[in-house]
Amino acid sequence: MTEPSAWVRITQADPGHSAAYVQRFRTLAAGGTDIVGEARLVDAMLPRGSRVLDAGCGPGRVGGHLASVGHDVVGVDVDPVLIDAAQQDHPGPRWLVGDLAELDLPDRFDAIVCAGNVVTFLAPSTRGEVLRRFRSHLADGGRAVVGFGAGRDYAFDDFLADARAAGFEPDLLLSSWHLHPFTAGSDFLVAVLRPS
Ligand SMILES: C[S@@+](CC[C@H](N)C(=O)[O-])C[C@H]1O[C@@H](n2cnc3c(N)ncnc32)[C@H](O)[C@@H]1O
Repeated sequence: MTEPSAWVRITQADPGHSAAYVQRFRTLAAGGTDIVGEARLVDAMLPRGSRVLDAGCGPGRVGGHLASVGHDVVGVDVDPVLIDAAQQDHPGPRWLVGDLAELDLPDRFDAIVCAGNVVTFLAPSTRGEVLRRFRSHLADGGRAVVGFGAGRDYAFDDFLADARAAGFEPDLLLSSWHLHPFTAGSDFLVAVLRPS
């Protein structure tokens, strides 16, 4: 049986957590805050009309933007409240409830984007399986882009070892979604991964 994500445990302990998360991003967007930086980086990696999986899409800010500029987007998230918000706020993409450790879609993607610390919420026992499923859902030439911060119980070296074991090589390691290089002291990792 798949061990539940930490996000599921958080929402069970605090039933208002998901709604508050949705509202936080709605408020930021309404106030004009730029909440699509991750999506811009992914868009720059792809020809328009590419197939993109937003893995752990939450309320859809990344996948919603990618769809709005012409990509074919599927978003998957374990939290039905967030998927409902994505459907309301960003109609168009396919927004699906599901655990990434059980990802099994007929689609193959030119890019998989996993932004917003999603991998740090995965149950540790599922980390390798999620990365293997990312690998098996990539089209030829596809890449996965995973971003998360330090200090969240998933060391960057452990993540990169898990990614290698799942069949990925780092294509490019950055310390931000704005193309700053990754160094030994970086407190954020954006890993662009290609099949090895
Ligand atoms: C901090 S939110 C980020 C949401 C979105 N990627 C963003 O950047 O706006 C973390 C997300 O990871 C999702 N998540 C965590 N574990 C998951 C799993 N095992 N399968 C699918 N989604 C998961 C949560 O439901 C939540 O939406």
